[in-house]
Amino acid sequence: MSYRMQYHLMSDKGWLNDPNGLCYYQGKYYVYFQYAPNYPHDNLKKWGCYTSNDLINWTFEGMKLDADCGLDKSGAYSGCAFVEDEQMHIFYTGNVKLDGNYDYINEGRIANTIYINANDYKNKQLLLSNKDYPSDCTCHVRDPKVWKKQDTYFMILGARKQNNQGCVLLYQSDDLYRWRYVQTIVSKEKFGYMWECPDYFTINNKQLLSCCPQGVNACYDKYQNIYQAGYFLVEGEISSNYQLVSFNEWDYGFDFYAPQSFVDNKGRRIMFGWAGLPDAPYDYLEQDEGWIHALSLPREVKVINDKIYTYPVEEIKQLRKKEVDVNTFDLNCKAYELQVDSNIKQMHLKLGKGINISYDGDYFKLKFNEEVGAKRDVRYLKVKELSKVNLFIDNSIIEIYINDGEYVMTSRCYSETYEPYITEEHLEVRIWEF
Ligand code: FRU
Repeated sequence: MSYRMQYHLMSDKGWLNDPNGLCYYQGKYYVYFQYAPNYPHDNLKKWGCYTSNDLINWTFEGMKLDADCGLDKSGAYSGCAFVEDEQMHIFYTGNVKLDGNYDYINEGRIANTIYINANDYKNKQLLLSNKDYPSDCTCHVRDPKVWKKQDTYFMILGARKQNNQGCVLLYQSDDLYRWRYVQTIVSKEKFGYMWECPDYFTINNKQLLSCCPQGVNACYDKYQNIYQAGYFLVEGEISSNYQLVSFNEWDYGFDFYAPQSFVDNKGRRIMFGWAGLPDAPYDYLEQDEGWIHALSLPREVKVINDKIYTYPVEEIKQLRKKEVDVNTFDLNCKAYELQVDSNIKQMHLKLGKGINISYDGDYFKLKFNEEVGAKRDVRYLKVKELSKVNLFIDNSIIEIYINDGEYVMTSRCYSETYEPYITEEHLEVRIWEF
């Protein structure tokens, strides 16, 4: 039995983590990703690449950006692409670990911010290095994200301060090459020790600062994973007087991290995340098959009734090949979408032997048995009113969208069958095989 998926992006072999360099460039979607093709023998991170014309059919372009020089000798870490005037500008972190007896937090690590043009992946130009970061930072600084406002370019980098406070460093530039430090962005109260993979964008007049805080304690149904992925709303001006308010999680499942977003030619804000976590305390069974991890579906970020929603891009509907019902469901089908659409007071949905999805009028819950969850157990969240649930199953992943993307739960899972059983007969259930 293979755990490979039908419609999610995975590495061909070895290791995959963060989506990188997301963009729409010369008529194609580009999805780069952190890639260690020779994992587990060699964990050196490079950039792999997928391209697509339509977000449905993808071509694996192989390894594009190598960690092959002194500037990135311990890894070509995460970064972004910024497209302007038919040029794809790539910014990433060259990780360098010095030989010696270091903690690699306060010393022993160089974090180079590097520029390349996608015309020439070998021509690496150093933009910023440790001396250019504020002196109260540790050497954990990484994951540049660039945008433009009026005539000014801005860059943010995720960082860890010496007082173990997570933060984002803001730089600005007039030409994409020379960058000036502007300020360090922090939350009013300390929120974790390190913020990885920052992203910043404006949508319907809302400013979002997305990041992945590490070192945040779980609190009831919040922050249940080892590391978080979410966004602050920004009030004021990010380059001068700002305030970060209310951190919200992007996803409430077991596996969602390091999301990055971009705007496509249709003006949509699209986000991919890594459907995995660093240092996850559970197993990913595909390792035995010589590959590990996948990306989430591409999700469009929208504002509905003043709230942030994320939902698979409309192209995903093209994957619906055949509508079936619970009684004619093919037991071998492991790639499908299931929709429950009606005002749902209560719901008990069982998939195969080991997945229970339920709503009791108060909490929405995803529960795995031991075998299917590979050490994952339960995730839940408070949902006031439940009007719609869309599940996307793809052999070893489930993405659950609640109320058209008001909340999402993404998790890897390993079930022999995903045959659905639903107890409440009055609920309107539709199933499409993919
Ligand atoms: C997040 C991360 C990034 C880093 C990359 C290395 O998962 O730790 O901060 O650039 O992975 O692969």
